[in-house]
Amino acid sequence: MPLKRRQVLFIGLASAAAACLSALLALFGGVKFNREEIKVTTPTMVRVKLPKPSYKSEVSIEETLLLRRSIREYEDKPITLEQLSQLLWAAQGITLPSYGFRTAPSAGATYPLELYVVVKEGGVRDLDAGIYHYIPREHALELEKAGDYSVDLMKASLNQEWVGDAAVNLVINAVYERTTRRYGDRGERYVHIEVGHVGQNVYLQCISLGLACVVIGAFYDDWVKKVVGGIGEPLYIIPIGVKKGGYKFQA
Ligand SMILES: Cc1cc2nc3c(=O)[nH]c(=O)nc-3n(C[C@H](O)[C@H](O)[C@H](O)COP(=O)(O)O)c2cc1C
Repeated sequence: MPLKRRQVLFIGLASAAAACLSALLALFGGVKFNREEIKVTTPTMVRVKLPKPSYKSEVSIEETLLLRRSIREYEDKPITLEQLSQLLWAAQGITLPSYGFRTAPSAGATYPLELYVVVKEGGVRDLDAGIYHYIPREHALELEKAGDYSVDLMKASLNQEWVGDAAVNLVINAVYERTTRRYGDRGERYVHIEVGHVGQNVYLQCISLGLACVVIGAFYDDWVKKVVGGIGEPLYIIPIGVKKGGYKFQA
């Protein structure tokens, strides 16, 4: 039987009143949380627009290949936001916006990789410590968690000290389904190949910036996932810092 207009109005008013009452009860009544906690439950997105990357360098690609090395000791100095921007661009920056193609190749342009940056306290000039997610389309970072998680990440990486010492750690996660959806099981192989491309880009870009890094494959997957959060499975961690003594580039 169809409801009469008055009944509908009554049901509407009754449910609105119930909603108001439960909100008031939650705020001032039995549920114990104060104003500060209420603020925390309504997160605001912190987005950091990164400086435009540079496409010029003092050093040739050949020299970066010659000098590429896994380096596990860094100066106790911050890197700059420009350097972080350049590293993220080298890793996953978009170079052909009309197609969304990036600096590293991707099987079928399925782009399964997600980049997270674990910034140590004082690790990047003008950027608070925290875990950030790189958004290639915007060339921007989104804050996932505030605070210094570099020691937690080091513990999850079999206590490899360079993870704790580095100014930043890039954590590269893979969302396998983006690639296996198209290529089946073989897609897993493609994802692993792709992360290697990204790692090499980061190594070479580090050199032209006077930075140093090492790729890390030895860590507890679940522990890293717990520390970093985000989406996908962690494949690589790349600690990065200022190179001790700098590089001797050829004139
Ligand atoms: C897949 C992979 C995993 C790696 N995992 C680690 C690691 O967990 N810790 C580490 O200190 N180095 C790690 N490395 C770096 C190697 O130890 C390093 O590449 C090797 O010693 C050769 O040195 P080079 O990179 O300076 O040429 C890894 C390298 C690769 C390719």
